Amino acid sequence: MIPLNETTIRNHLSKNAYALPIQFHLLETVDSTNRFIKEQLKCNTIDVCCAETQTQGRGRFGRHWHSPFGENIYCSIRQQIDADMPQLSGLSLVIGMAIHAALGPIATEHNIRIKWPNDLLWCSQKLSGILIEVISTQPGGYTDLVIGIGLNVNSTAHDEPRIDKPWCSLYDITSQRFNRNILIAQLIMEVERHLHQFISQGFASFLTQWQPIDYLYHQSITVTQPTGTLSGRAQGVNEAGLLVLVDDAGVQHELSSGDTSIRGAG
Ligand code: BTN
Repeated sequence: MIPLNETTIRNHLSKNAYALPIQFHLLETVDSTNRFIKEQLKCNTIDVCCAETQTQGRGRFGRHWHSPFGENIYCSIRQQIDADMPQLSGLSLVIGMAIHAALGPIATEHNIRIKWPNDLLWCSQKLSGILIEVISTQPGGYTDLVIGIGLNVNSTAHDEPRIDKPWCSLYDITSQRFNRNILIAQLIMEVERHLHQFISQGFASFLTQWQPIDYLYHQSITVTQPTGTLSGRAQGVNEAGLLVLVDDAGVQHELSSGDTSIRGAG
């Protein structure tokens, strides 16, 4: 196992002419990198926390994120962005596309796709998840947020198969082990590049990038929301990143959140 190493991450960033100031917090163990970074005092830098393991890694809907030591990426990026909350629908899709881009040719060659709103899947097995948390927001002003990324890298689902929630790693996909430090640098660069485009040009500028990697497109799906479930056919996303769903009665809905699954799968 190659440990997390700030010098290797910084060298890779400099090699790619990345110049924004970053403060790293690389930890052996932490309860949750998202929780840790939220408690740091905000400076004028991008804060990045990565850990070898998390004892209470958090997923969406209060789920647990399994975080074995030294194998995968558990990374939280804290950043203040020049946009307020109502403009942020579509952000999780943009971060999903940033992770997809950070994987480079692996993502396209192996047909890795994004399941709205923010899971990366390979052959219907989960490779990566995203947990975005807002720390504070000012109407018409800045939003201080944490982007938490869990990416399965060198662990293998053969050792710990889960029938209820099938998962996979980059090792399962490629039969190769990866240096996580290089991947973390790639993630940081792509998250910054995608955030910049999102803020300056909006979600609509990502529609052509989204369409070919949309896992749910034209599938018969169920969306679970706090108010109940909706079933129908997924018709892609609109210009704000909302999921377009035509229900079984032919009524069109545009959804901003929810847990999605393909009907009849699993
Ligand atoms: C999900 O798919 O439910 C989201 C999973 C997000 C997991 C990452 S790991 C790094 C960061 N710290 C956490 O506690 N959670 C996120």
